[in-house]
Amino acid sequence: MNVLGIESSCDDTSAAVVVDGRAVRACVVGSQDDFHRRFGGVVPEVASRAHMEMIDVVCADALEQAGMTVADIDAVAVTNGPGLVGSILVGLGFAKGLAYARNLPFLGVNHLEGHIAAAFLDADEPQFPFVALVVSGGHTHLYEVTGFFAMNALGQTVDDAAGEAFDKVAKLLGLGYPGGIAIDNLARQGDPKAYDLPRPMLHSGDLTMSFSGLKTAVRNLLENAGGVDKVSLPDLAASFQAAVVDTLLAKALAAVEQAGVSHLVICGGVSANSELRKRAADLCEKNGLCLTLPALAYCTDNAAMIAAAGHYRLTAGERSELDLNSYATLAKAPK
Ligand code: KG4
Ligand code: ZN
Repeated sequence: MNVLGIESSCDDTSAAVVVDGRAVRACVVGSQDDFHRRFGGVVPEVASRAHMEMIDVVCADALEQAGMTVADIDAVAVTNGPGLVGSILVGLGFAKGLAYARNLPFLGVNHLEGHIAAAFLDADEPQFPFVALVVSGGHTHLYEVTGFFAMNALGQTVDDAAGEAFDKVAKLLGLGYPGGIAIDNLARQGDPKAYDLPRPMLHSGDLTMSFSGLKTAVRNLLENAGGVDKVSLPDLAASFQAAVVDTLLAKALAAVEQAGVSHLVICGGVSANSELRKRAADLCEKNGLCLTLPALAYCTDNAAMIAAAGHYRLTAGERSELDLNSYATLAKAPK
């Protein structure tokens, strides 16, 4: 089954063709970084307009790279939430039009389910049951996953998502946008023990996380030091990154123990972080756990993961109606 996936929930316009939920034939991501950089973050209205300019070209590119035409596509899967509603509407409207015109099965996909499905792309697939740490710019959630549509929430951040903290701290350090990768790169030359930063809620005894206090600690440290030119930026980047990674991995390990499983999946944009990937591998080896990390291209937002998640629901017979709407928050996500 050839599924065309479409993703436009934030600032990446993406289309992909995935065969049988696993083999990526093409995955095109049109980044909007250049549009948003001057504002230091994603501007929703700018994102929606950029999606409109790019969506048809990105879809045509994906088909061309896959060596296919629309006639080869068996179904269309598209993110319909959670995310920026105006952005989602662009991909959703395009997907509906295509599905209607070509009389194709059509399905709305939960973006977080997409991030988890990324672990099944072009790799050894994880075995159910597993714990998934979904860690992105909008979400930091722990799930026990017992099947493709069976996700049980175990814990989450009570304030900022980990990726959001990366982006905000990068801004404080003057590293620009997008921030996560900038901190990752700078931290390679830094000492993670140079600055003593908090690990919020590390000992809370549950699977709740918090990253807003850590960001404030960095801001206070900078103010007390007298500005960014009075600190070692690589050391501060490395120390901040270590605090996030320590917290994420401690909570992920606790979740694995609580759920009584032996497989951990880490996905979402922050799973591209080199330190998190390295430390997660060490932790899992030490504790006899299996670890699945998506390939780097499938960590950050992409449509291949949406096509994959869509595949499993489509083959189970699920379809969306053409009046499907977009939604902003997880609270509105269909079960
Ligand atoms: O999954 P994603 O592309 O979009 C959302 O669903 O939010 O995640 C984007 C987030 C951003 O906050 C970005 O800074 C972060 O992932 N990110 C990283 C890295 N690459 C992307 N954070 C840390 N290290 C990275 N290498
Ligand atoms: Zn995402």
